[in-house]
Parts: sequence; structure tokens; C-alpha cells
Amino acid sequence: MIDPTLSQQWKDLESHSSLLKERTLKDLIFEDSTRAENLSFEIDDLFIDFSKQMITNETIDLLGALAYERGLSEKIDALFSGEIVNISENRPALHTALRFSTGPSEDVNSAIRDALSKASEFSSAIRTGKWVGATGKPITSVVNIGIGGSHLGPLMVSAALRPYAEENITCSFVSNIDPIAIDYQLNSLEPESTLFIINSKSFTTSETITNAEAALQWAQNALGSENDLLKKHFVAVTANPEAAERLGVLKQNIFPIWDWVGGRFSVCSSVSLAAMIAIGAENFQKLLEGCHSIDEHFRSTELSKNVPALMGMIGIWNRNFLGYGNHAVIPYSADLTHFPSYLQQLEMESNGKKIRQDGDRVSTQTSPVILGGAGTDAQHSFFQLLHQGTTIIPTDFITFCKPSLPAGNLSEEVVLKQHEILVANCFAQSKALAIGSDSEPESFLSDGNRPSTTILGNRLDPFALGQLVALYEHKVFTMGVLWQINSFDQWGVQLGKQLAEIITKGLTETRSHFDHDSSTTALLDRYQKSRET
Ligand code: F6P
Repeated sequence: MIDPTLSQQWKDLESHSSLLKERTLKDLIFEDSTRAENLSFEIDDLFIDFSKQMITNETIDLLGALAYERGLSEKIDALFSGEIVNISENRPALHTALRFSTGPSEDVNSAIRDALSKASEFSSAIRTGKWVGATGKPITSVVNIGIGGSHLGPLMVSAALRPYAEENITCSFVSNIDPIAIDYQLNSLEPESTLFIINSKSFTTSETITNAEAALQWAQNALGSENDLLKKHFVAVTANPEAAERLGVLKQNIFPIWDWVGGRFSVCSSVSLAAMIAIGAENFQKLLEGCHSIDEHFRSTELSKNVPALMGMIGIWNRNFLGYGNHAVIPYSADLTHFPSYLQQLEMESNGKKIRQDGDRVSTQTSPVILGGAGTDAQHSFFQLLHQGTTIIPTDFITFCKPSLPAGNLSEEVVLKQHEILVANCFAQSKALAIGSDSEPESFLSDGNRPSTTILGNRLDPFALGQLVALYEHKVFTMGVLWQINSFDQWGVQLGKQLAEIITKGLTETRSHFDHDSSTTALLDRYQKSRET
């Protein structure tokens, strides 16, 4: 496998970037009135505008040539047809099969269909009150206990589709091992009407198992252990059913996932059971349809018009040819508040790597740092740096022409007025970043020339959310292919997990048993002394 940076296509992009660096984004925007038309794309109701990126049509052609040379189209086929794309774990990555049972074999498809119908039936039993707790009360609180991909996806979906949620059921999420997280959550719960979803693909994740045990103890204290407690109040989502059963979860209460769906790519599986209970199976289906529309686009559209591929290629351009080490995602939608944290795992856990698929070190930078927050809040925290800081941070702006479905406390007029201000802020920020201002004195000046992409949807509904999810999943895949890294493993998180286990024991050991570096020993010492006083 040849180092991508040695290819002629990479060198052509380097020469092109040197020439383009002599121009400004402002120049590019002002000198070509057809730019927005040429550099924007539509997929169903979604409008994606790259015209505020520091690119020209030639950049797209050269990036397309690099993607072609790297075999992106073949790699996309390999992804969809279930080839082993996760080489280090010897697995395919079949998240696209989850949308419409479009997997490579009937075994995979029937497993997906069965799991989806089990989750749909269960969520409708909870929503209609057919499923009752051990004392006969309907379930009104659902608590997802999980972390990483078993938390960020369902949390993001539940929040984003809040207007579609059943009012009588609240969903909450516990992820952190800090005891206060679950402790506070339990405060607001009534054991007789609470359902816990223990969500862990591996069922070995320390935070999740520890929090699940705490929840079980709390429920047992309230309801006793001699009744239907486990049957009615605890279910699990996992690829390790034996471990879930060992914890006491009944076989019939276990919802499957599989090793061929990566945790951070699992939002379309039973991992989103809490969200499915909240919004109902029909709305969940629309989310899958939204993802599927992008899947179809990704697998069948030529690279120069392929939006997720272009997002990935422009990501490479910004990272490797313009040298930007960060990337911001700012949804102008309060309901998408959790979207940036969801993307942080998706992008950085997938592409924060330095070893190529062939075992050699990469010779270029990989994943930028992903940061973000909802607009307009983010404008009042870190946007100062985006506008005038010494670090240029390419930004994705996401917003919608129509407001999220209202909760009913405001008049239609007020909702529309506020929504207009929201969207105006979004457009104002991307314009300010790109064009800047010539104000005097210098401290007032915004240079402009700071690139962004704008994604404009019709309304944040299940279909549109599915489109966003799949756009970013395929963007991440594209970048991984161009860097020749495996976007589907995460070996880097192992060392910290192992050390945490060893150090947990160390916290209660006598000092002479410490076998750590002097810096860590000093911390353990200090901790023990403070516990003694
Ligand atoms: O620590 C990283 C990680 O393995 C993620 O990849 C994963 O989403 C998360 O932990 C949770 O894993 P699990 O679902 O197995 O509990």
C-alpha cells in the first residue's frame, strides 16, 4: 500500500494549495457570481453549500482524482457489500445494513429485521401502557445506562426529536462513573414506574456495569427482589447476552446488536431503544429512511457530486493542505445541542490514529480536533476566537428553514419571529467569518477568509436527522480511506482502561505496594493522606 502523500495526486494538490494560498476566500467569492450555484448540492430537502470553503472547481477535481487513485469508490462498494473493512478486528462494518435490512446476506438481514421488530414491539408496549412494572404501574421513566456509542447516539436522537416524543414518558441518561450522576438521576425517579436499559455492546464497560449494579440495588431496596423486578424493570442491549444474563437480565429482555456494528456507528440499532420508546417505531423508521437516502446517494453518486465524499475530501483539504487542526460543528437548533458531542466520538474515535492499514505510520496529520456547540449559545462563548483568533477553525453550520415543531406555549408569530432571528444569526456568522470587515481600529477588524460549510434543511424531523447522521458517518469513512487508516477500531482507549483498573486497586493499597512512576505515586499518596484525615 503506497503512502498517500507520495502519490502524484497528493503532490498536485500541494502545488494547487500553494497557488490558492495567494488568493483569499473573499476574492473567490466576489469574483464569481456562479460560485454558490457551482459549489452547492441538494439531496432531497437538504441543501449543502460549500461555497464558503477555500476551494475552487479545480480543487474538487484534484481531490476527486486523489479519491479515485485511493480507490474510494471500490472501498464504498466494499463497505456496503460486507467486506472486512475493519481489518484489525477482522470484521465488516455493516451500519448501513441497519437502515433497510440491506445487508450482504440473508442471515444478517433477518437478524436486523428481527431485532428491529422486537424493539418496535417493546417500545409500543411501553408507550401504550401494555407493559407494566412489577406492581402493575405503567412505565413513565426510561433510563439509558451506557457510555460512548451506547449513550451519545440515543441521547442525541432523543433530544433532537423531542417534539416527536410521547409526553407521558421521560427519557434520561446515565453515563458517568461519578456516583453523583446516577445518584441525582435516581432522585427524580419512582422505582415502580421506571425502566432501566443497560446499554453496552461489550457488556464489560466498567462505568455501565457499575452504574447498572447501583440501579439494581436501588430498585431492589424499593421493590424487593422476590418479584418481577428484573423481568419488568431491567432490559439490556448488547452483543454479549451471556454477560447480561449473568447480571440477572432475563433472556427475553435482551435486545441484540452485533460485532459488525461499531459502537459509534450504532445509532440505527437497538442501541437507540430509549429514543425509539420516546418517539415511537414509526418515527424511528423515518430516521432510518433519512439515513438510507444518504446511503443510496453515497454509493451511487459520482465522486464530484457525492456530498458525504465531498465533505470528507474537503476535510482532508482543510487538514492536510491548508493545515487547519480543528473543525467546529455549530447546529443552529437548540434540539441539536448534543450533535457536536456525538460527532466528537464519531470523528475522533474513528480517525484519531497514526498507523495506516498496512501497519506503517501515517506521514501526514489525521483527524482534526472536533469541537462545537449550539448556535446562538456558542456565539457567546468561543466565537471570538473563530473570528479573530490566531487559529483558523473551519466550521460546519447546520440550520433549518422551518422551526422545530413547537411545544405549544408560544404563538405561531413568536415562534416564527424567533426562528428567523436564529437563522439570520447562522447566515450572519458564516458571512462574517468568510468576508470579515474593514473596521477601524485594528482591534475591531475581522480578517474574514475563514472557511465554512452550511447545511440547510427544511425542518429538523426524523428523516432530516437520519440524513445528517449518515452524511457524517460517510464523511468519516471517506477521510479514513484517504488516510488509509482503519476508522472502525479504537485501540487507543485500552491502555487508560487497563491502568484505571490497576490504579483503582492501588488507591486502597499500602504505599509500599505502589508500583508506579513517581508522578502517579505522588498522586496516590496525596489521595490516601487526604482520605485518612
Ligand atoms: O471506550 C471506548 C468504547 O469502546 C467505545 O468505542 C464504545 O462506544 C464505548 O466504549 C462503550 O462500549 P460498550 O457499548 O461496549 O459499553
